[in-house]
Amino acid sequence: MNLLAAAPVPRDLPLPLPVPEWLLVFCLVVFFLVHILFVNLMVGGSVLVVLLEWMGLKNKRWDALAHEVAQTITVNKSLAVVMGIGPLLCINLLYTLQWYSANALTGHAWLMIVPLVIVAFLLTYLHKYTWDTWTSGGKKTLHQLTGLGAALLFLFIPLIFLANVNLMLFPTEWEKVKGFFSSLGIGNILPRYLHFMAASLAMTGLFLAGWFGRRDSDLSHLEGFSRPELRRLFYKVCTCITLAQFLFGPLLLFTLPAAGITTAVYVIIFSGAAVGLLALQQLMAELKSPDAAIGGRYGRIVALFSVVVLGMGSGRHVYREAALAGHQAEVKERTARYAAALAEFNKGQAAKPQPAEQSAEQLFMNCAACHAPAVKLVGPPLTEIAKIYAGNPEGIVAWAKAPGKKRPELPQMPSFAHLGETSLRKIAVLMLEKAAVK
Ligand code: HEC
Repeated sequence: MNLLAAAPVPRDLPLPLPVPEWLLVFCLVVFFLVHILFVNLMVGGSVLVVLLEWMGLKNKRWDALAHEVAQTITVNKSLAVVMGIGPLLCINLLYTLQWYSANALTGHAWLMIVPLVIVAFLLTYLHKYTWDTWTSGGKKTLHQLTGLGAALLFLFIPLIFLANVNLMLFPTEWEKVKGFFSSLGIGNILPRYLHFMAASLAMTGLFLAGWFGRRDSDLSHLEGFSRPELRRLFYKVCTCITLAQFLFGPLLLFTLPAAGITTAVYVIIFSGAAVGLLALQQLMAELKSPDAAIGGRYGRIVALFSVVVLGMGSGRHVYREAALAGHQAEVKERTARYAAALAEFNKGQAAKPQPAEQSAEQLFMNCAACHAPAVKLVGPPLTEIAKIYAGNPEGIVAWAKAPGKKRPELPQMPSFAHLGETSLRKIAVLMLEKAAVK
């Protein structure tokens, strides 16, 4: 495939990777999944809190539940950020050119991530810590708006990341992209985003079903809810959304640009989806089980979902590899061609005859403007110098390398250290000769 005509092919720096490539790939996939899990819980949590708090306007028990869920967001958010560093470092090393090109092309939005994340975090903390005071102080609407603001930011920030990981896959589009918003038209960002948002809600549902289902969890703030009821509620969230994923998933897969679709991608994704079906079946069974027994399949469900997520994460990587294989090869070739041309050039340089050595007379031209044999120009005449340095050319060399300040009526002489010892010695000998001739 010749992309050269259609896509910019930057030249790479031929630097070795610090660890074997397979290790970086492994770390990229695993670290990314850990990161995205906490991102899911942070995004899904903040959306659920907005909904639950709103439901709480009618029935106080939902408000209390919203408050409890809000307690989990700040922790998950911190983990999401910290765990994001790993995949970022790996992708930097594996796809340096494609990744940075995408970053640069969405420049403003990419940089906005930092302030947006800061504002989102502050709003989340504000929302969490003002819950009781603002609710009882008649500022409930302001409180809800704070939560909504945080949730909207959490919904928007992943879109910037998504735009980047998507844009890096399409080097042929790079020249057409004019910033973040225009990059949204490339590839299939919308289905990707839907799939991600749904995963966030499903994972959050599963997480909260386990969180409130813990035998030692403290439900004293949650009057009006029993443990099985909470379990069932969040299982329901997970189940409904997982069902929806069987719509969003194929939508994503079948709108993927063909460049990266290989049999391997299909095999991995469909195997993942098959395990997803098993997870779904277990979820349904949980929903049907009586209160006393609900929760018995939790471990199994989590394990099944882990396999699904691992499958989707690997499929995602295999797709990216295939989509970028052509471009990566072009870049490699271009880098090799450049290295060869550079080596050729350097060889030519080395073979070129060095400039002939300069004679003493030629070298003395460096001094002649200021030092004449018998008359004082800018500096003292050679006759005067010869008197001081008779039989001591080394003294002249030493001075010329680091001139002192002697004669108050004359300016400071500049240093000639750059000419080198050998040349300066030649000059010194000639200076003394010239003075003797006069
Ligand atoms: C831009 C003018 C200028 C140039 C070019 C210049 N000199 Fe000088 N040189 C001076 C001046 C001015 C002094 C007097 C400095 C003082 O006494 O403070 C001086 C003084 C000297 C002295 C006398 C030092 C002493 O102990 O009194 C020597 C030797 C000398 N220059 C050597 C050189 C040599 C060798 C070169 C060329 C490589 C050179 N100069 C080029 C301006 C120059």
